[in-house]
Amino acid sequence: MPDDSGDTPEPCLEVRNVWKVFGEKTDSVMDSDLKNASKEEILEKSGCVLALRNISFKVTPGEFFVLMGLSGSGKSTLVRCLIRLIEPTAGEILIKGEDVCRLEKKRLRRLRRTVTGMVFQQFGLFPHYTVLDNVAYGLKIRGIKKEDRYEAALKAIETVGLKGWEDSLPGALSGGMQQRVGIARSLAINPEILLMDEPFSGLDPLIRREMQDELVALQDQLQKTIIFVTHDLHEALKLGSRIAIMRNGEIIQVDAPEDVISSPADDYVQDFVQDASPAKVLRAGTIMETPVLLLYEWQGPKVAKTLLSKSDQERAFVITKDHRLKGLATHEILEALIADGAKDLRNRLIEDVPRCTPEMTVEELFPLATSSPYPIAVLDEKGKFLGDIRNRTIINSMIQDTGK
Ligand SMILES: Nc1ncnc2c1ncn2[C@@H]1O[C@H](COP(=O)(O)OP(=O)(O)O)[C@@H](O)[C@H]1O
Ligand SMILES: [Mg+2]
Repeated sequence: MPDDSGDTPEPCLEVRNVWKVFGEKTDSVMDSDLKNASKEEILEKSGCVLALRNISFKVTPGEFFVLMGLSGSGKSTLVRCLIRLIEPTAGEILIKGEDVCRLEKKRLRRLRRTVTGMVFQQFGLFPHYTVLDNVAYGLKIRGIKKEDRYEAALKAIETVGLKGWEDSLPGALSGGMQQRVGIARSLAINPEILLMDEPFSGLDPLIRREMQDELVALQDQLQKTIIFVTHDLHEALKLGSRIAIMRNGEIIQVDAPEDVISSPADDYVQDFVQDASPAKVLRAGTIMETPVLLLYEWQGPKVAKTLLSKSDQERAFVITKDHRLKGLATHEILEALIADGAKDLRNRLIEDVPRCTPEMTVEELFPLATSSPYPIAVLDEKGKFLGDIRNRTIINSMIQDTGK
């Protein structure tokens, strides 16, 4: 129904005063003033761990709601409490108006199988099931017949860009692809609410950015409600329509990304936001690019020269068989090698190339970028070539990165 009254739409998820205390004597905490004490004091006096303290928030349909906070702040506990994978100690959780905490087992299970889908950091795939059977699993346990569940699974596999991989086993897939299977599995049941607990944290930076972009596109297309957990402010600012910032089991701010940046709720958020200057937050691994052309040391200089001309580049990195950086080749160097009668690209290369690791921040790249005319090579800890960074890339990252 069109809504022109200006009222906020009905929430599809509402969390009211939810607490979670882990331990034996949770009553002794909840029934006394001790529950208002610090986490440390609660632990010391009762042996219990306070994981969530009086959490309340609402999420409306179609929102991309991000829970962000440092490790240990209670994000996973909260997202698991939403469907009682962890039992909340107190409070109410309403999904589509129904109090999840009062549902008996059967209806709870139905809720998990029809309304919500969950994606974890550890992809959680069955290694001996094909991609198709992994994705169809949620439908199988719902008792959907084979033909129908395969049809739905194939559609989900296509949605996440894995068409053609249905019959592969997860072990044959890269981390990014395995997580696509994880996402397809949760989409196959066509849930209204997707719960995602740090789904991209285990992935390489480039893949991670790609998956983020795709998730944004996917949400746009499917209009799901997404509850997304991350400890990465940058990811939160990129993905969230609203961000709930957690600290020590509490939510200390819920706002749109713009408001998180412009009016941080307290010092903790302020510190975070100060760190959010793109140069301090962005890392080499996030902004690096795949070079247009890579040359290999065993290639002959004539081949290399042709490839370089064809690709319209002035220079290209040369790498070894085990993907280490050998150096940089230019047209002049290749001509000299041809004149030498050289058979490969093992000599004469420019070795004095600036190098960085994927973890380095853009701020740390500035001196490298200004001190050399060459692009920066990004190498992992074993010296493997991952990508390159040009000055233009650095400048672009500074201007546009917090957007989608
Ligand atoms: N099963 C458990 N038993 C006891 N304490 C736990 C358990 N699970 C989590 N905790 C504690 O609850 C707090 C929140 O943890 P968690 O929700 O995993 O945080 P996050 O996901 O933000 O890293 C931490 O102090 C953690 O040690
Ligand atoms: Mg966690």
